[in-house]
Amino acid sequence: MSERAFEHIVVTGGAGFIGANFVRLLRRERPGVRVTNVDLLTYSGNLENLAGLEGDDGYRFVKGDVGDAALMDEVLRDADGVVHMAAESHVDRSIMDSRPFIVSNVLGTQTLLDAARRSPRKPRFLYVSTDEVYGSLPLDKPEELFTEETPLQPNSPYAASKAGGDVLVRAAHHTFGMDCVTTRCSNNFGAYQFPEKVIPLFVTNLIEGKKVPLYGDGKNVRDWLHVEDHCEAILTVLERGAAGEVYNVGGNNERTNLELTHSILAAMGKGEAMIEYVPDRLGHDRRYAIDARKIKRELGWEPTRSAWPGALESTVRWYVEHAEWWQRVRSGAYRAYYEKQYGER
Ligand SMILES: NC(=O)c1ccc[n+]([C@@H]2O[C@H](COP(=O)([O-])OP(=O)(O)OC[C@H]3O[C@@H](n4cnc5c(N)ncnc54)[C@H](O)[C@@H]3O)[C@@H](O)[C@H]2O)c1
Repeated sequence: MSERAFEHIVVTGGAGFIGANFVRLLRRERPGVRVTNVDLLTYSGNLENLAGLEGDDGYRFVKGDVGDAALMDEVLRDADGVVHMAAESHVDRSIMDSRPFIVSNVLGTQTLLDAARRSPRKPRFLYVSTDEVYGSLPLDKPEELFTEETPLQPNSPYAASKAGGDVLVRAAHHTFGMDCVTTRCSNNFGAYQFPEKVIPLFVTNLIEGKKVPLYGDGKNVRDWLHVEDHCEAILTVLERGAAGEVYNVGGNNERTNLELTHSILAAMGKGEAMIEYVPDRLGHDRRYAIDARKIKRELGWEPTRSAWPGALESTVRWYVEHAEWWQRVRSGAYRAYYEKQYGER
């Protein structure tokens, strides 16, 4: 598979958890590539995640909505790559109100695709999808895994909105011959994750002496992928993936939520008494498990940073050592950072 070289990559959602890690990876590993980060700075977008890049000539931040067609035309004008990960990303929020998910994840994705199609440089378009588009696997058949051919059967409004974006990307390739590639990954963990997601939520609760809320019976299974493994996989697919193809990305790291909770408690030196069992999430998918053999076979990528307990312990340590970061996130104080750097919001 030939490797593409890029001059200017637009990353959407680059102020979020995975986006910030990806922008940092690009600036570190591909310093000759200009990077434009377009982010609406919703509640989970935090420019402090990119602190240190302000004076970097190869990096530009644009505050904006992927659903803003005129702005996307402008931003994509001389881009030869787009990595689209801007999205509403939290399942629980989608259960409370699905509208922003449809607006950003479905309409926003189509708007960005249209801008990419109009762009003179015809950029390669990578869509960061999720394993949640496949639905749920049974707990009693551990041999079953999601492959790239598994039908899309999303179960939550979040997953349905991501599946909407996913099939729109497929359609853009099929109908217009656009150069699109898609990654579908499992649950990410690592630095800069908004503390509503389970790992930072549990760690920060424990630091503050609060219990950790565990859904249902805790038997739901997830595969855990270190965010730096994921970002490396995204770059691999961007540079070497075949147009129109989908690549699963997994951490080879399946755990029940109860195992995850016990591991966090152990890493924090806390006991079982800190678990508070809470009513299950509505429609809670039982098991996600990824067959990631295609990306290994075709592109030679496999995870190297996701194995537990080491990767989990170092992530726990990151939140312990960066209390100021998550306290500012929890209090909303991180928003002032934008005003200081870029003026009024
Ligand atoms: N975190 C995971 O475990 C995981 C797993 C699979 C797939 N994904 C996908 O990866 C992507 C990134 O997830 P994350 O965990 O970093 O989420 P996040 O919530 O931390 O970041 C999302 C970012 O997108 C921005 N954004 C939201 N709507 C926007 C819009 N309309 N226009 C421009 N920017 C907008 C936000 O401001 C934020 O910076 C998402 O597409 C998500 O569906 C995440």
